[in-house]
Amino acid sequence: MNFLELAGSRQSCRAYLDRAVERDKIEYCLEAARLAPSACNAQPWTFVVVDDAPLRRTVAEKTFGPLRSLNQFVVQAPVLVVIVSERQNLQATIGSLVKRKAFNQMDVAIAAEHFCLAATESGLGTCMIGWFDEAAVKAALAIPSGKRVELILAAGYSAEEGIRPKKRQPADQFRRYNGYA
Ligand SMILES: Cc1cc2nc3c(=O)[nH]c(=O)nc-3n(C[C@H](O)[C@H](O)[C@H](O)COP(=O)(O)O)c2cc1C
Repeated sequence: MNFLELAGSRQSCRAYLDRAVERDKIEYCLEAARLAPSACNAQPWTFVVVDDAPLRRTVAEKTFGPLRSLNQFVVQAPVLVVIVSERQNLQATIGSLVKRKAFNQMDVAIAAEHFCLAATESGLGTCMIGWFDEAAVKAALAIPSGKRVELILAAGYSAEEGIRPKKRQPADQFRRYNGYA
């Protein structure tokens, strides 16, 4: 697979087989996340892998939305990866303050996508989950209350067939050369 084929094969998976994921596959995806770039190389993240079934169900239920359908599929995923953002190093903290940029959130997002692309290459489906009860997730996993959980990744063997056509804006809509106008 070349890179565009890999990027094109990644899609949000919202149906999973009842099949455990090998820890070495998760380790491979974590290694891809570890290699991600970050502002001032701060690497401000902790990935909490939840593959214990009862604990996983507890965390999955904290992702359900007020409308019954939102994120119900998360209970099927045999692995959840809860990404906690950590303190940036001094340079990145100063950079974030001076430039008013949430570098640590950018860093987490890049590492999360590295994880998801490695998962795709490994034959796993993933879905990024941004909607969840953060305080309840922290309580379930003994994450200190002062920390932020930025994202949860659902992962497992997909029960979906094939790759859906991507709904994306055409390149003409977002691409500019040599100026915004
Ligand atoms: C930051 C972020 C948060 C997301 N949160 C959710 C979520 O809570 N539930 C969900 O089903 N999908 C969630 N998604 C998946 C998006 O809906 C999905 O990536 C987008 O519709 C494009 O579809 P694709 O991933 O299949 O290409 C999230 C994606 C991102 C990047």
